[in-house]
Amino acid sequence: MLEIRDLSVFYGQHRAVEEVSVTVSRGEIVVMLGANGAGKSSVLRAAAGLLPVMNNAAILMDGRDISHCPADEFVEAGIALVPEDRAIFADLTVLENLKLGAYPKRARQKERENLENVMSLFPKLEERRRQKVRSMSGGEQQMVAIGRAMMSAPAILLLDEPSLGLSPLLCGELFRSLAVIRSAEIGILLVEQNAKRGLAIADRGYVLENGRVTGSESSEILSSDERVRKAYLGGD
Ligand SMILES: Nc1ncnc2c1ncn2[C@@H]1O[C@H](COP(=O)(O)OP(=O)(O)OP(=O)(O)O)[C@@H](O)[C@H]1O
Ligand SMILES: [Mg+2]
Repeated sequence: MLEIRDLSVFYGQHRAVEEVSVTVSRGEIVVMLGANGAGKSSVLRAAAGLLPVMNNAAILMDGRDISHCPADEFVEAGIALVPEDRAIFADLTVLENLKLGAYPKRARQKERENLENVMSLFPKLEERRRQKVRSMSGGEQQMVAIGRAMMSAPAILLLDEPSLGLSPLLCGELFRSLAVIRSAEIGILLVEQNAKRGLAIADRGYVLENGRVTGSESSEILSSDERVRKAYLGGD
């Protein structure tokens, strides 16, 4: 289980995240809802070891405190981030990008098996394994980004707005693949602008407002919550 305890994130004097606590277990999808600037990406970056963790905060993986470890130690612990900009290498092929994901020690021995799993999760990538990523559609590039994260054999996958810019069709495909990932006992922390889809697939969710958690409920309860409906589901 990933446990984020009392996390605050500062950018200079500006406090973007304030004492946020979030947990994600293997085999569950947890959605994080929040307006632009609420601090969602900051929480994910911190959970991936990319931001300094303040004294009284902690990030634990299966009970082990990894707060002050370098980012690659977070990957070794089983945490993989797919950032909003996807961070893939446009001039490399699909296969080369995927293989880059297999660098952590925890993944090296099972590289072939993990590659097969990624290819069966995203059959399109199999067809295009030798294609340069630059020439692929946004949806296909997102599959490469998630596939590369999967190559690190994660226990917890952190996804920052994976459906951004995808057609409804590809979006549906993407969400189906998230369900498959969950069924492989991987936990997913999902930041999603499409709150309706996010809540539809998630088991639980958090609401982040101005850097603070203001709600933590099952997806069912969040979906019928008046404030959530108004703010994120376009309801009245
Ligand atoms: N590198 C940075 N330097 C300074 N301020 C930052 C930086 N990154 C984020 N912020 C600020 O921190 C706050 C939270 O940003 P963050 O990107 O975490 O929000 P978000 O919820 O992901 O928003 P969005 O929905 O727009 O992606 C914002 O006010 C933002 O301007
Ligand atoms: Mg963001």
